Amino acid sequence: MDLPEEILAHIFSFLPLQDKCNAFTVCKDWSNIMTHPSSWKDTEVRCETGTSVPDRYSALLPLVRNLKLIMNLTDPANRKTALWVLRQAVASGDGRLEGLSICCVGNTPLFYAGQDLQQGLVDILTNGSSLTMLDLKGVPFTLSDSFVRSVAMLCPALRSLYINNHSLVCGINAETLRQVLKCCRSLNVLGVFQASLSQDVFKDLMLPERPALKKLELRCERSLKYTLPLCDQIWLELKLRHPRLWVELELDHTLPELHVPGVLQPSIPVRCLRLLTWTLLLNEVQIVGESYANTLEVLELQTTASPELNSALIALAKQCVKLQEVHCYCVVSQEVITAFITNCPNLYRYTFKTHKEPHPWTCTKLK
Ligand SMILES: *[C@@H]1O[C@H](CO)[C@@H](O)[C@H](O)[C@H]1NC(C)=O
Ligand SMILES: *[C@@H]1O[C@H](CO)[C@@H](O)[C@H](O)[C@H]1NC(C)=O
Ligand SMILES: *[C@@H]1O[C@H](CO)[C@@H](O)[C@H](O)[C@H]1NC(C)=O
Repeated sequence: MDLPEEILAHIFSFLPLQDKCNAFTVCKDWSNIMTHPSSWKDTEVRCETGTSVPDRYSALLPLVRNLKLIMNLTDPANRKTALWVLRQAVASGDGRLEGLSICCVGNTPLFYAGQDLQQGLVDILTNGSSLTMLDLKGVPFTLSDSFVRSVAMLCPALRSLYINNHSLVCGINAETLRQVLKCCRSLNVLGVFQASLSQDVFKDLMLPERPALKKLELRCERSLKYTLPLCDQIWLELKLRHPRLWVELELDHTLPELHVPGVLQPSIPVRCLRLLTWTLLLNEVQIVGESYANTLEVLELQTTASPELNSALIALAKQCVKLQEVHCYCVVSQEVITAFITNCPNLYRYTFKTHKEPHPWTCTKLK
């Protein structure tokens, strides 16, 4: 094989740990390449029943720069293995580990609240870390305030933090979020529950010393019932302070219908919107078309079919011409599909069906 070393290293960087480990033993050339940092840029480690993580990995884990840890939660032994892997990657790695994302698969045991993993991670980070990205979107348990505060304190270099999982309820209050911003001064990408935001959080985000905010991923669910809605004015101010900011909004079926319009404030620079409420969304589709025409690139809808919805979608297609993806999980008319294809030149993926089909609905790719 005569591929240049850099290209091989790039290819190796995508291999899961097991295969990287094997690549070491193939030949001397490959073994050399494996010592190159770029071979370790992204590494996936799976902790699942039946696949133990051999001790010989402990010498390799400190090389990993971005770790994606996938674990099956069903068996407590996997969680122990996962913590062992983390310890090798974090604690003995000369601060090499930059990104960590944790993703859980399998059934979550009854009453399991993830205390062992949250405490274990804090213990592992106890001497501080150079993590710049922490993605906990894939953990199916509620994170505690104290966990998030500890992580923020131990990882002051964080630039991206995601604590917005689908299946979680919001356990993080605004004071905790302010603490996070205080500890992590470079944070510019944040995935949280909208219920964790407050006027004070916005004021902190607008402080002159803060770096340009790039992205907010906001999950809007039932806990918004108990918070004061964020007014349009504060969004406008945030947008003026951070002109490059874009927002991803996801509204789920637990959000009471009457709170939906309060979430869709016109000054939010929404690039991606997922309206997964299963309610009628006629007014909302109209608001989206009027408010987010200049920014919207991805739209997903879970709603109920009707002739009025078809008309509203056709109007939206004419307004939101920057759309790249539209996914609508109810039946629409052929005119709707035509409207999006003719009005949105950047559209490259869509899910529209003109008659009921068994789920899952596959999307159509253009170009
Ligand atoms: C933290 O640092 C101390 C002293 O260097 C060391 O003994 C200890 O094992 C470290 N703890 C972790 C979790 O890395
Ligand atoms: C939340 O966690 C579950 C279980 O690990 C996962 O299936 C789901 O995709 C996660 N949600 C997000 C938004 O990643
Ligand atoms: C998780 O582990 C359980 C039992 O160990 C197994 O039955 C299940 O299929 C696994 N799930 C996944 C998604 O790997």
